[in-house]
Amino acid sequence: MRTKQVFLDNAATSKPKPAAVAKAIMHYLSQIGTSPGRGGYNLSLEAGRIVLETREIVRSLFNAPAAEQVIFTPNVTYALNIALQGLLETGDHVITTSMEHNSVIRPLRALEQSRDLEITIVPCNRQGCLDPAAVKKALRPNTKLLVFTHASNVSGTVLPLADLAAIAQEAGILTVVDSAQTAGVLPLDFQRHKLDVLAFTGHKSLYGPPGTGGLIVRQQVAAKMKPLIFGGTGSKSDHEYQPEFLPDKFEAGTTNTVGLAGLQAGIKFITDIGLEQIAAHEKYLTRLFIAGLAELPQIKLHGPAADGNRISTVSITIPGQDAGTLAYRLDVEYGIMVRSGLHCAPLAHKTLGTFPKGTLRFSFGYFNSEHDVLYALKALKNLLIKTAS
Ligand code: ALA
Repeated sequence: MRTKQVFLDNAATSKPKPAAVAKAIMHYLSQIGTSPGRGGYNLSLEAGRIVLETREIVRSLFNAPAAEQVIFTPNVTYALNIALQGLLETGDHVITTSMEHNSVIRPLRALEQSRDLEITIVPCNRQGCLDPAAVKKALRPNTKLLVFTHASNVSGTVLPLADLAAIAQEAGILTVVDSAQTAGVLPLDFQRHKLDVLAFTGHKSLYGPPGTGGLIVRQQVAAKMKPLIFGGTGSKSDHEYQPEFLPDKFEAGTTNTVGLAGLQAGIKFITDIGLEQIAAHEKYLTRLFIAGLAELPQIKLHGPAADGNRISTVSITIPGQDAGTLAYRLDVEYGIMVRSGLHCAPLAHKTLGTFPKGTLRFSFGYFNSEHDVLYALKALKNLLIKTAS
């Protein structure tokens, strides 16, 4: 393994995790190690306390009305599946956008086949930007729900959440938001935006471990939403039917307490620093990187300019160069880790004009430094010079 390592794939997962996350995980494994809600002994109660505290910190981060409205899942894909499969019925019309990840479009396509769903994919422009008026135009009498990503995992484009939520609210349809790329970086306020479902992942900008995530759901919506899986909850053990109350209705099976211990520490880490400060740091690195790219005329940026409505995920292509080969060379020759190809988002690539070859994607996190950005720019420049000569 190379001694120099520069991790620029934070859109996939954040690395490194804060030391407090590893410490919380070790504490659970070495000192607790029990299941919550499954025993009356002290250590089980302590495990239950970890889960409760994590629910509360997630509630507070996203300003949800009550902690029980936070449902934990293994990841954001699972959370989106609970919402989409649990809410959409035969004959419903659903609106989404052309910047979606497969975590949205694949459940919708599956439901289109199994439940005769009607789907409208509202096109975004070549930068991935969405005109809210186009969503308004797509409304139909049978529209049940609007589902969209808050920011693209390919181009970093931020979608106009406030406007979209307001349109859905006015039309009386449900709003389901995929915050995989923005939770922990951009402010997300469940109550202010009157969201119905907010799906989040724990292992990206919340700095928790993989295997954590969830959804926040409005009480009245939860009452109509069907669970995806059924099983033990540690509650109502005399009943053969799934409890109807939250969060148990959607949380069958043993909870990932070790992961939630880490997630809690990750959220404490970001809230102690402050989301604004994290966003400012990532914005600074993104500006520096995009400014540096401008000096390499061969490179094409796909997505908003540095000052546009974007997060720190930057996709580029270089005519005549294979993104996979460049990513490989960045790794092997410079120890720089990035993602290349299609980033599980074929629709987004078609929108950006980068299908089917995909892009070379750099994504910066709180732990990246100015030095990392300058090193990546230098590496790119060197690779381009070497390939040209
Ligand atoms: N969706 C994640 C990514 O963009 C995994 O890499």
